[in-house]
Amino acid sequence: MRGIVLAGGNGTRLQPLSFVGSKQLAPCYDKPIIYYPLSMLMLAGISEVLIISRPDDLPQFRRLFGDGSDLGMSIAYTAQDEPRGIADAFLVGADHIRGEDNALILGDNLFHGANLPSLLRRSAAKLNGCVLFGHHVADPERFGVAEVDDEGRLVAIEEKPDRPRSNLAIPGLYFFDGGVVDVAKRLTPSARGELEITDVLRAYLAEGRADLAWLGRGVTWLDTGTHESLLEAALFVRDVQRRQGTRIGCVEEIAMHMGFITPDDCYRLGERMASSPYGRYVMDCARSYEKVPASARAAAGWT
Ligand code: DAU
Repeated sequence: MRGIVLAGGNGTRLQPLSFVGSKQLAPCYDKPIIYYPLSMLMLAGISEVLIISRPDDLPQFRRLFGDGSDLGMSIAYTAQDEPRGIADAFLVGADHIRGEDNALILGDNLFHGANLPSLLRRSAAKLNGCVLFGHHVADPERFGVAEVDDEGRLVAIEEKPDRPRSNLAIPGLYFFDGGVVDVAKRLTPSARGELEITDVLRAYLAEGRADLAWLGRGVTWLDTGTHESLLEAALFVRDVQRRQGTRIGCVEEIAMHMGFITPDDCYRLGERMASSPYGRYVMDCARSYEKVPASARAAAGWT
C-alpha cells in the first residue's frame, strides 16, 4: 500500500503562524506536526509516501525528510497550487498512486492508541473499495459524520452537518483502492469550491464498497487546525510522554521497530540531534533495541 500525507491548505485558522510557513511544520510539543500523521502511515506498514503541500513550503518538508532513505522509506513531494479540496490529493497524487491501494492521511491529524497499528494493518489487508474510520466525539458538527443503522452498518455520510445524526466523526485517515483517482475525476466541486473527501466516500458507499472501522475508546484522535486544538494536542503529547517516558510519533524509533532501518542507523539519526532530549531518546531507543521483549513490541503495535 502507498501513502499520501496531505499537508497543504492555507491554514487560515492558524494565522499569523501560517503566514511564515506550512502549519503542518508548526511544532506540536517536541516535533513538527507532520511527524504524527507520517508515523501513523509507517505503523500501518507503509514506506512509500507522497507529501503534498503548497509550492513554497515543499523545500522545508524536503529539508526535513529528504528522499526518505534515512528512515528506510521513499518520500516524494508534489505541489498543490491551490487548496482545491482534500479529494484533490488523488488528482495531484495520481502518479504516486499508480492504480494501487493507498492510504490518505491529513497532515494535521494526530492519532494515538495501542491497538491502532494492528487495526490499520488489518483494515488495509481486507480492503475492498475503501475504509473510513469512525470515532465518537462530543462535537461532531465540526467533522465529516457517519450515520449507522441499528447493526452498526454505515448508511450515510455528511460533511459538517448543522444537526449531526450521530456522534461518530470521520477522522482524516482513509484507505482506498486504486480506483479512487477515477472517482475523484468525476467529482464536482462543492458549494465552497472544493473537491470534498465526503463525496468520494459517498461514491464508494453507493456501490456498497465503504467499510466503517470503529476506533475504540482507547484511541485518542486530535486535530491541530486551530490555536486551541494545537495547544491541547501539544499538552496531550507532553503529558503522555512525561508519564510514560516514551515518545509519540518518533519516526526514527518507529522506522527501526518496523524494520525499515537498523538499530545502528537509528542511533546515527539520534546522534545528529544529540543536543536535544529528542535526539538522546532516539539514541536510547537504538541502544535498547535488543532488550525490548516480543510482548512489549506487540503491545506497542510494531509487530
Ligand atoms: O480532521 C478530519 C476532518 O478533515 C474530516 O472529518 C472532514 O470530513 C474533512 O473534510 C476535513 O475537515 P477539515 O475542516 O479539518 O478540513 P480542512 O479544510 O481543515 O483540511 C484538512 C487538512 O487538509 C489540513 O491540514 C489542510 C489540508 N488541505 C486541505 C485542503 C482543503 C490541503 O492540503 N489541501 C486542500 O485543498
